[in-house]
Amino acid sequence: MTPYVADPVYFNGRFLPLAEARVSPLDRGFLYGDGVYELVPVYSRRPFRLAEHLTRLQATLDGIHLRNPLDIAGWTAVVERLIAEAPWDDQSIYLQVTRGADDKRDHAFPPASVAPTAFAFSSPLVTTPAAVRASGVAAITVPDERWANCNLKVVSLLANILARQQAVEAGCAEALLIRDGYLKEGAASNIFVVRDGILLAPPKTRFMLPGITYDVVLEIAKCRGQPLEIREIHENELRAADEVWMTSSTKEILAITTLDGQAVGHGDAAGKPGPYGERMWQWYQDFKNTVMRQG
Ligand code: PDD
Repeated sequence: MTPYVADPVYFNGRFLPLAEARVSPLDRGFLYGDGVYELVPVYSRRPFRLAEHLTRLQATLDGIHLRNPLDIAGWTAVVERLIAEAPWDDQSIYLQVTRGADDKRDHAFPPASVAPTAFAFSSPLVTTPAAVRASGVAAITVPDERWANCNLKVVSLLANILARQQAVEAGCAEALLIRDGYLKEGAASNIFVVRDGILLAPPKTRFMLPGITYDVVLEIAKCRGQPLEIREIHENELRAADEVWMTSSTKEILAITTLDGQAVGHGDAAGKPGPYGERMWQWYQDFKNTVMRQG
């Protein structure tokens, strides 16, 4: 069986087999979910948008006042070694930093002598099967019950987990988070809407993770002349949409074709992936091929 995690993993300055990596039960990641993470897709053994992922990692660390155990060059070397030693060409690299393990449990930060815990590993990149892409996926809407710093990529993901689980139990792939009547994002994805030929994207606020894929989609839209509005999207507009997409480093661009049991879109096109999403997916593949797979 193909392992999910490649050996070696990176753990606190060393490369070692996963089975030898040991975290203290007093680690604040375990006790409090006090940590941050990133997930970097790798195509043809090249990390996609690594600089942007490492910048977001730093922004999240700054946001929770945790020092970065490695600088950009240090993380880049870790990522390069994990990629080189993993058996797959397309991978997903997971990076995590927690506030480390003190000798007691105390909400306030531990002394500066307590080192952060750093962990990173490679897994095979799991892409969406063509049949799922062709049909699109179903989603539900749920109230956004997360905290007010959703722009930070922190490991304390309980509200996201409960929302995603609610979706799974409803036979759906994603939960769309609605706050005060407006669409923010998905439990683990950003959401785009198409109405009357215009691509709508929620703005980057404290209630949305600034997705790396989101940025790439906006860049492509601008470069290809796709009409675009970055603004708050009311729940009613979401329900009246011609197309709804979810985006993330692993899902790339995936059509949501059923929302709360209703087909997305209108007339004959209802309940099927639409032409704007198809075109954006193709542009995204072209972009990846241009920057990642050549040479
Ligand atoms: N999640 N919003 C949330 C809440 C997310 O968890 C993610 C990604 C995104 C999309 O971000 P990006 O395009 O940078 O992957 C948006 C990752 C994949 C995860 O938690 O595994």
